[in-house]
Amino acid sequence: MLIAFVIFWALLGLGVFFVAMRGGPGGARRTLHTEAKPGQRLVTLGVVVLFAFGLAVPAIVMAFNGDHKASVASGGIRLTADEQKGRELFARACAVCHTLNATKSVGRVGPDLDVRVGVDIATPAGRKALVLGAITEGRARGLGQMPALLYQGKEAEEVASFVAAVAGH
Ligand code: HEC
Repeated sequence: MLIAFVIFWALLGLGVFFVAMRGGPGGARRTLHTEAKPGQRLVTLGVVVLFAFGLAVPAIVMAFNGDHKASVASGGIRLTADEQKGRELFARACAVCHTLNATKSVGRVGPDLDVRVGVDIATPAGRKALVLGAITEGRARGLGQMPALLYQGKEAEEVASFVAAVAGH
């Protein structure tokens, strides 16, 4: 991207240079004073190009940047679309009670999921099953109360996949 950008401006610079040189200094003066039109057109073109780039470059940067941030979690983990959805759902209903580094959440009512899921459970499948079980059944094993069915069906799956993917990172 950057290289294409640099090449574009280099070519534009060269183009302007050759146009200016074509008629020599006399030609340039003639262009500017006696034949105002081609010179004006060049200036207008320059303004349009500058304006277009002033809009296009920030737009491109914002578009790519946004994409990148949405799909990459802490530790450089790439998230699927379902896991990205799960991250939103987690932030909405789970973060108040649980610590999870990937969402910068620091809840202390329930166990730290980076430890309880990320460290304690070895396999991705095991992690997902534990989280899904906790969501479906709720928990009250003496460490406090977690209500059951904060999410169901596809949403529960999305949260479980997300937590399983990021816990411990
Ligand atoms: C009201 C606070 C609260 C909310 C909201 C909450 N939890 Fe919990 N969670 C707890 C508590 C307390 C425990 C520990 C209960 C126990 O084991 O006695 C727990 C335990 C867990 C466990 C560990 C289960 C185990 O067997 O060790 C996981 C995983 C979990 N929660 C995930 C979630 C997810 C995902 C959400 C969002 C859908 C969520 N929690 C929402 C309070 C909460």
